[in-house]
Amino acid sequence: MNTVKTVRELRAAIAGARSKGKRIALVPTMGNLHSGHVALVEKAKQRADFVVTSIFVNPLQFGPSEDLSKYPRSLAADQEKLIEVDCDLLFAPELEEIYPDGMQGQTTVHVPVASEGLCGASRPGHFDGVATVVSKLFNMVQPDLAIFGEKDFQQLAVIRKLVRDLNMSIQIMGEPTVRAEDGLALSSRNQHLTPAQRGQAVCLRQALDEAERRFAAGERDPQALKDAMRARIAREPDARIDYVEIADDDTLTPLDGPITRPALAALAVRIGQPRLIDNTVLRP
Ligand code: PAJ
Repeated sequence: MNTVKTVRELRAAIAGARSKGKRIALVPTMGNLHSGHVALVEKAKQRADFVVTSIFVNPLQFGPSEDLSKYPRSLAADQEKLIEVDCDLLFAPELEEIYPDGMQGQTTVHVPVASEGLCGASRPGHFDGVATVVSKLFNMVQPDLAIFGEKDFQQLAVIRKLVRDLNMSIQIMGEPTVRAEDGLALSSRNQHLTPAQRGQAVCLRQALDEAERRFAAGERDPQALKDAMRARIAREPDARIDYVEIADDDTLTPLDGPITRPALAALAVRIGQPRLIDNTVLRP
């Protein structure tokens, strides 16, 4: 696997692959790779002939109170994991390569509605930062296919709408969330949990399990399902709810009437400092 740091080298490597008729897949990441990221690369290998993974910690999607400098960086270990799954090319640019004129003057991409609720409400500007960097990566790589995790369901919805609205000819695939044995969704944020908090963090998945159980038993009232999820989370001493929501699984607008079509149950909870998210789709 080659690692390239500039757009020029990236384009040259991709032109080589494309001239051989290869189908190209992109897996965008911020590095510190775990089995969830690796699963995306493995899926990409099945669906394409040439897989590009990008590692770029994107300052544009971090809020002023979110500690960008604490974001874990582990390029050498990440490279080893990518080599193991036969990734073809790693794009690991420096900040100046992505934002040569700085971030202030950068043209940005805003995806309305899908960006605004759920995580968008507590992280203003976050999804503009994501949509902007992903648009840039799409234009740099021009992949046939790009793969994202369903763990970040809202991000996936924002990118699907971005691609539709801007007529990009890129297939977007979502992959199921990879979890630890006790159900906690893998995330680079989990390493900031103390052992006691790590035990409590399982309440996110268990709250979703509770919603799924009640839904399977016929409960269709979003408020009743949200109350049940809140009650499960309230049992943990260090848990503070950011949101617990039931939303349309396409537009992500909150539902207030009975659930009649697939609905997203989504939550964001602080366990001590780290803010964790998880979700599931309830299908009637
Ligand atoms: P990052 O958090 O590094 O995640 C990269 C990709 O891995 C995303 O598509 C995310 O949904 C997926 N992912 C994370 N945890 C996962 C898990 N447990 N199971 C399956 N997939 C998982 O998301 C970003 O980076 C950035 O916002 C990015 C899209 C790269 C733009 O900067």
